[in-house]
Amino acid sequence: MNLIDWFLDRFRLKSTHRGIFDRDIPEGINYFYCFGGIAFTAFLICLVSGLFLSFHYIPSEKEAYQSILRIHEEVFLGKLLRGIHKWSANVLIVSIIIHSIRVFVTKSYRPPRELNWIVGLITFVIVMLEGFTGYLLPWDQKAYWATVVGTNIVGSIPFVGQALLLIVRGDYEVSGATLSRFYSLHVLWFPGLIILLLWAHFHMIKKLGISKPL
Ligand code: HEM
Repeated sequence: MNLIDWFLDRFRLKSTHRGIFDRDIPEGINYFYCFGGIAFTAFLICLVSGLFLSFHYIPSEKEAYQSILRIHEEVFLGKLLRGIHKWSANVLIVSIIIHSIRVFVTKSYRPPRELNWIVGLITFVIVMLEGFTGYLLPWDQKAYWATVVGTNIVGSIPFVGQALLLIVRGDYEVSGATLSRFYSLHVLWFPGLIILLLWAHFHMIKKLGISKPL
């Protein structure tokens, strides 16, 4: 089988369409099989609360911190909205980790689900980056220095590190340019990518079904 055939076969693009609720649930599954669904629910809550936060947040060096204070103190239900966004992000990360461990322990990464495992791993990395870029947005001391330390890791890669660091920060140090860049990645690029990856993830689950417990 060549690479293209393998991809089409695993992605099941050629197979017949099945309705969204028309799927086989194997016998003997347990609560650990719920964590993919919990991660998805947390992602949706994050998305919706983030959409509302973006009405009030200003991604500029001078106003970001003030706009966060305003959301917290003046915006109707702003404090609750920030809390929901933060906690759903935490639930998302914890449930993705439990979900990945479940998939690993039940050996569900084996053929014919290996492409879905790869899609899952890429989603995992993007979700972590989504968390990292969001952490800078309050633009307070903790956010600033966490980003200095986090991005320094990129700078320590041999040969290409310094060039990559400049691309990641958009400047020689963490500045307003970094804030704009991280804001764009956090609200546009990464959520868009995650939606695309989850579509592929669910498409394959729909076609392949859930693996039988060992
Ligand atoms: C936001 C991230 C993710 C969401 C929303 C998600 C969602 C789901 C859902 C709803 C299922 C159905 C079965 C279940 O819930 O256990 C599933 C299955 C699966 N997921 Fe994920 N997932 C995510 C991330 C990942 C990651 C990080 C990996 C791997 C590292 C992964 C690999 C798989 C595999 C291989 C299956 C098929 C498992 C089987 O058939 O038993 N997923 N996912």
